[in-house]
Amino acid sequence: MKDVREELGRSLDRFRSELFEFLRIPSVSARSEHDADTRRAGSWVVERLRSAGLDAELLETGGHPVALGEWRGAGPDAPTLLVYGHYDVQPAEPLELWTSPPFEPVVRDGRIYARGAADDKGQLFLHLAALEILLATRGSLPVNVVVLAEGEEEVGSPSLLPFVERWKERLGADAVVISDSAMFAEGLPSLLFSLRGLAYAEIRVQGARSDLHSGAYGGAVPNPAMTLARILATLHDESGRITLPGFYDDVVEWDEETRAGVAVLPFDDEDFRAGTGAPALSGESGFGTLERLWMRPTCEVNGLLSGYTGEGAKTVLPARAMAKVSFRLVPDQDPARVIDQLRMHVARVAPGDVIVEVVELHGGRPWRARPEGVFFEAARDALEEAFGVAPVLTGEGGSIPIVTEFERILGAKAILLGFALPGANMHAPDEWFPDAHLEKGIETLLAFYSRLDRPDRVVRPA
Ligand code: BES
Ligand code: ZN
Repeated sequence: MKDVREELGRSLDRFRSELFEFLRIPSVSARSEHDADTRRAGSWVVERLRSAGLDAELLETGGHPVALGEWRGAGPDAPTLLVYGHYDVQPAEPLELWTSPPFEPVVRDGRIYARGAADDKGQLFLHLAALEILLATRGSLPVNVVVLAEGEEEVGSPSLLPFVERWKERLGADAVVISDSAMFAEGLPSLLFSLRGLAYAEIRVQGARSDLHSGAYGGAVPNPAMTLARILATLHDESGRITLPGFYDDVVEWDEETRAGVAVLPFDDEDFRAGTGAPALSGESGFGTLERLWMRPTCEVNGLLSGYTGEGAKTVLPARAMAKVSFRLVPDQDPARVIDQLRMHVARVAPGDVIVEVVELHGGRPWRARPEGVFFEAARDALEEAFGVAPVLTGEGGSIPIVTEFERILGAKAILLGFALPGANMHAPDEWFPDAHLEKGIETLLAFYSRLDRPDRVVRPA
């Protein structure tokens, strides 16, 4: 480890400036005006993979391309590790709430601020850097490595599932390692046992052909904003449970061991509340905060649009109203089934005086795993070595849609080790990644590979 550690020390400043270069590319996958930038970020990853010593190419998907890197020097009998990450980012708006511009990375108070610093460019970069160091100093890796960086994760990975099906042989791996999440707390690393899934839809309500004078027509013509509000209000009951018939049918109970592990995690509701600035916490009755976040499904309104929202008052009867609504799902809920349940529910509660439509946007399956096996153990030991404390097992409320599909299609076991910190402002203004975790993260990955180097441990997982 000494040789690689020294190399890391020598390269750290260069790594930081390379990461900054990556962060300067506004690869906002949701916006077509950024299509060229998004592709440029994909090409940037390909170039980095090549300079690290992997064979790499940018593969077309019909959407944003996939950057694929391969190093197969360990030979056909050695295990293969798939490293997954994403080079696309969420839109940076509202720009006025950023302390410094989102695509001009800076280090302030020990934090790297930029859109994508945590989610996921900063974390993907750790893997590229670790591979570069290992190949530069040792000339080889203990396992075959395939790196797959996609450009559509933030829009639900629409092209990735067909891509993985198509390249299934080439992507074949024993494990997939992903750094796109956070540690449980500062100084306390974690490995994930779950991610929630997602089912996302738009509810559109149409009344009159166009907006009308609310005095000349109001009272006699239906108001889509009021109708939409009533529909949304039917989605939960008083105890915070979701009312779609059949919604909980596929929710499976968590095992006692996992629940007991969650119960003893160092977590304080009041600290968590204070971190959000909300006056109080709320959610489904009968569950604690971590259970609500990791183990229970939810329904949230993500956006609302109707009528006049500008300065002052305008007396208008809106013609349309729209809500973006998403459900976070837990095993074994199926996103397509949830959208069907939403359609049926909305059709039942909607009045006949307006036109109501449910349009599916995207979704992903939940993921849950038993944390075990050689790769998991190597990750656990590596985190302990780098951070000086054994990682805790945690769930995650967010989603990474492809994880379950990797396990299903490739038969690879997913290992999720994230290096961001809680409060990293993923998807929000002032997203940041701890500058110190640039070094710690790479150090962890170097330790991870060095642990795979022990021949007694590199056995193919069953
Ligand atoms: N990195 C996140 C997943 C995540 C979120 C991990 C929060 C840990 C904490 C990922 O990039 C993400 O944002 N996923 C989306 C998926 C969606 C667009 C299908 C999400 O969870 O909203
Ligand atoms: Zn994200």
